[in-house]
Amino acid sequence: MYKKLFLSLALAAAIGGTAKADKPLPYLDDSLPIEQRVEDALKRMTLEEKVALIHAQSKFSSPGVKRLGIPENWMTDGPHGIRAEVFWDEWSWANWTNDSCTAFPALTALAATWNPDMALLYGKSIGSEARYRNKNVLLGPGVNIYRTPLNGRNFEYMGEDPYLTSRMVVPYIKGVQSNGVATCVKHYALNNQEFDRDHVDVRVDDRTLHEIYLPAFKAAVLEGDTWSIMPGYNKYNGDHACENTTLLLDILKGDWGFDGVAVSDWGAVHNTDKVVANGLDMEFGSWTNGLNWGKSNAYDDYYMADPYLNGLRSGKYSVKDLDDKVRRVLRLSMRTTMDRNRPYGSFATEEHAAAARQIAEEGIVLLKNSAVKGKGKTPALPLNTDKVKKILVVGENAEHIMTLGGGSSQLKTFREISPLQGIRNVVGDKAEIRFVQGYESPQEPPQDRPDVKLPEQGPIDLDALRAQAVEAAKQADAVIFIGGLNKNQHQDCEGVDRESYSLPYEQDKLIDALVKANPYTVVVILSGNAVSTPWRAKVPAIVEGWYSGSEAGNALANVLFGRVNPSGKLPFTFAEKLEDYPAHATGDKSLYPGVGGIVNYSEGLNVGYRYKDINAVFPFGYGLSYTTFKLGKPTVDKSSFGAGEGVTVTVPVTNTGKTAGSEVVQIYVADKQSSLPRPEKELKGFKKVAVEPGQTVNAVITLDADAFKYYDPAKASKDNRETGWIAEPGDFELLVGTSSASLPYKVPVTLK
Ligand code: BGC
Repeated sequence: MYKKLFLSLALAAAIGGTAKADKPLPYLDDSLPIEQRVEDALKRMTLEEKVALIHAQSKFSSPGVKRLGIPENWMTDGPHGIRAEVFWDEWSWANWTNDSCTAFPALTALAATWNPDMALLYGKSIGSEARYRNKNVLLGPGVNIYRTPLNGRNFEYMGEDPYLTSRMVVPYIKGVQSNGVATCVKHYALNNQEFDRDHVDVRVDDRTLHEIYLPAFKAAVLEGDTWSIMPGYNKYNGDHACENTTLLLDILKGDWGFDGVAVSDWGAVHNTDKVVANGLDMEFGSWTNGLNWGKSNAYDDYYMADPYLNGLRSGKYSVKDLDDKVRRVLRLSMRTTMDRNRPYGSFATEEHAAAARQIAEEGIVLLKNSAVKGKGKTPALPLNTDKVKKILVVGENAEHIMTLGGGSSQLKTFREISPLQGIRNVVGDKAEIRFVQGYESPQEPPQDRPDVKLPEQGPIDLDALRAQAVEAAKQADAVIFIGGLNKNQHQDCEGVDRESYSLPYEQDKLIDALVKANPYTVVVILSGNAVSTPWRAKVPAIVEGWYSGSEAGNALANVLFGRVNPSGKLPFTFAEKLEDYPAHATGDKSLYPGVGGIVNYSEGLNVGYRYKDINAVFPFGYGLSYTTFKLGKPTVDKSSFGAGEGVTVTVPVTNTGKTAGSEVVQIYVADKQSSLPRPEKELKGFKKVAVEPGQTVNAVITLDADAFKYYDPAKASKDNRETGWIAEPGDFELLVGTSSASLPYKVPVTLK
């Protein structure tokens, strides 16, 4: 009460207004509807204040309206934790001592849980950390579709399937925004490679755009109600995403009715005329004064700063367009910083570490688990410390810090348990643990840390490192190899793509040599991308452990030693070789990385498992468990239904093994009669169920009317492109199983 009174008096005095002492000014009165408050604030603002509101004042903040008590906006990366504080106008860490966050697993790991509850937990937890650090916009999550395994940023995204990504992004957003912190869903749209990302111009047909590349953004807007979105660096049909009428005005703000803020990616704006007219609302990270690169504190020179203001003053630009942007930013403030009921948040707590660990554990994918040659029938995993007394851990990734590197998602974390430490934590004194490196990567200085001087690295002798590991492997009862990619340049890193589908630093050779020396060699890959696995037939067990954040090592060790039964499923296809992915199938450079700055998505809908000839060695949706499951015959609530209706499928899942575990039942829709050719199958429903040994649990999955639709550009009206979505009457099959390649049940249904 006193606070309110004081605020009103102070503000009334500050703005020379006549507010009554006991009644806040309308824009500050949170008993009024937000739209009324927005209009009230808008009419109090000067032209200069409006323009100031819509562009940055520092690397990650914009000024608000001080005179009116409208707070600054503070943005933070995203999407795996709250980025360290940086200097006002520099990318380098500001060396605060209280900004070490919880690192949550990379979004690929989250997607691999196939559990929307985990996405909600993730969102709530990371949103709470953002709130505590006084950030009101979290730059994430990323929902760009996995088109090529070379994309350096796939680890920040949720895989190859628009439906899975959509189901995971919605609860993430809800969780974050329940803290009074906005998500900024990125990178809208078609930012599917890092190579030439600032210029690359994507050409994609409308059907593919709507069926593959837009659904997750649409779900984020229409179901998640995200309060902001980030148009990316790339172009689409000749215009940059931040300046793109089709993407921003027609689709986002037109068809989807988005009422939030379109925040430019950092440095993604190029032209005042275009951003003014084409629907961008806020400009961040421009590096330039419009002429030269790297001028410091050039915020007044931003495209949406003085050049815009001057154009408004001269009448070149209309205040109406400006007001639309300002309203959106005010709405953002009302929803976040000016919501006095939002929680306070908490930071780097044990509760958040536990959440990070739980998500990591659910996301780890067991790709192979067979018996060790010459050692009976028991599968290699979980490792049993009654039997393996001498364990050798090999591989640089057993110790590599994974929260650093990789670009803007890198984190300063209060804890990162390495795999080696996690294994030691779990094993204790029950077995002897030895570590040898086996291979080495060239050291890279951590990004944004010019202050860190790395010790000089001598020449790397991979042959000698390998020989040493092989000798040690011969002495061990079991070997755990921990390799993969590492977020160095070209190894899962923003700004650059991978240059090869293979594991780097001669890891293939090392794995071959290890398993020859000791058949009990378990391979753990840490990565955010598929890699080639030429040794997969030789090794008894393979695990994909992702980049799993603060509790990575504990989560991995809990799975390796059987404290946790793995239940993750791949969110993208592991193919045999690069050419198995449709974007690379023909070697035509116009599909990737582009020719003359243009990339043609001419594979169309053939992305991931939708491509019949993908040649998956580990398919989309696949992942093993330490127990076995049997799916019973699915039943449907009705076998024929009308347009606008859906169908509910019940699938009994029996745990036929000896360990409690979780299985993900997946339903893919196959359209038997359609005017346009459709992919053989498309994921349209899934459910993760926990089942005790010997028990049966029903997975109940509802496919709504949208599950049967496809997009026909010929049917789309120019005023609303959403009208292109149609459900054609006819016969469908529901393919039910536990991965895109294992769908034993076919349930016929008819759309009347
Ligand atoms: C990235 C964004 C990030 C921004 C701010 C850009 O380079 O593409 O994802 O949020 O920087 O760090």
